[in-house]
Amino acid sequence: MLVAFVGDVHGRLLHAFAALLLLQRRRGVRLDAVVQVGDLGAFPSVERMDAPSRRFLAEHPAEGDFFRLLDPDPGLAAAVRGALELLPPMLFVSGNHEDFEFLAALHDGPVGPVAAVDPLGAVRHVADGSVIEVAGQRVAFLGRVEEPGYMDLDPAAHAELLAAPPGSADILVTHDGPHGLCTNWRGEPQGSPKLTALIDHLRPALHVSGHYHHPNGPRRYGRTVSYALSELVYPRHNRRRPEQSNPDQRVMPGAIGLYDTAAGTFELVADPWLSEVHGDHLDLASYLEGHS
Ligand SMILES: [Fe+2]
Repeated sequence: MLVAFVGDVHGRLLHAFAALLLLQRRRGVRLDAVVQVGDLGAFPSVERMDAPSRRFLAEHPAEGDFFRLLDPDPGLAAAVRGALELLPPMLFVSGNHEDFEFLAALHDGPVGPVAAVDPLGAVRHVADGSVIEVAGQRVAFLGRVEEPGYMDLDPAAHAELLAAPPGSADILVTHDGPHGLCTNWRGEPQGSPKLTALIDHLRPALHVSGHYHHPNGPRRYGRTVSYALSELVYPRHNRRRPEQSNPDQRVMPGAIGLYDTAAGTFELVADPWLSEVHGDHLDLASYLEGHS
């Protein structure tokens, strides 16, 4: 089976669906599951956005596509329904830029660990600490980041996964990455020691994360191979690294990972056609054409 992993989306859901549709068409494959590694940009309204997300929205209209998905007009609803006939729904774990109360409330009642977020069921949140079956794999999910404060890893969910038997998950999906996977601009190591400990304990075959907005890996931790994904669409301007500016709002290489469960192979997709998916006002319907 084939599982696609998607990097930080930050609201640009239509770029994500268009890139996945294009991937299926260009590679001649059908995806069995889609998993997004957090920072989907799940806020119920602009008012509920955190300050950085609201700042980015002002310069990047497509970061508001999550809101369009929550209340789609008839044209968008038809396009999303069409996409869902071709693509599996997108499962996602919490990042550090989501509305945690909004997401927690989705799981109230007899919903269980997977909760639909939008009325069409295109995106589905997976609760922290869950191990669920995805494309025949046992997949463990732990969102947020290791940082004191409201966006810190959920200690109960982290403890729950640390109490699970080693080998009880085939894949671990987190938002933050293992400690030392990269350094920041001051040269300080990034990543979470608590996630390194979790990888060492669970020993999944594959670990996939996001958060740092650039591709990373393969890195080996015992029997585990670990990758981090690029942000799906880089910001329009990057003052510190002008070469990473993205004025046309194109999908980035390394923002999608493909895992073949039978072969056990993982690929950071970097094909040039990915960058065809671009713009501030993406027409999802146009990506449905040519699909059989
Ligand atoms: Fe992010």
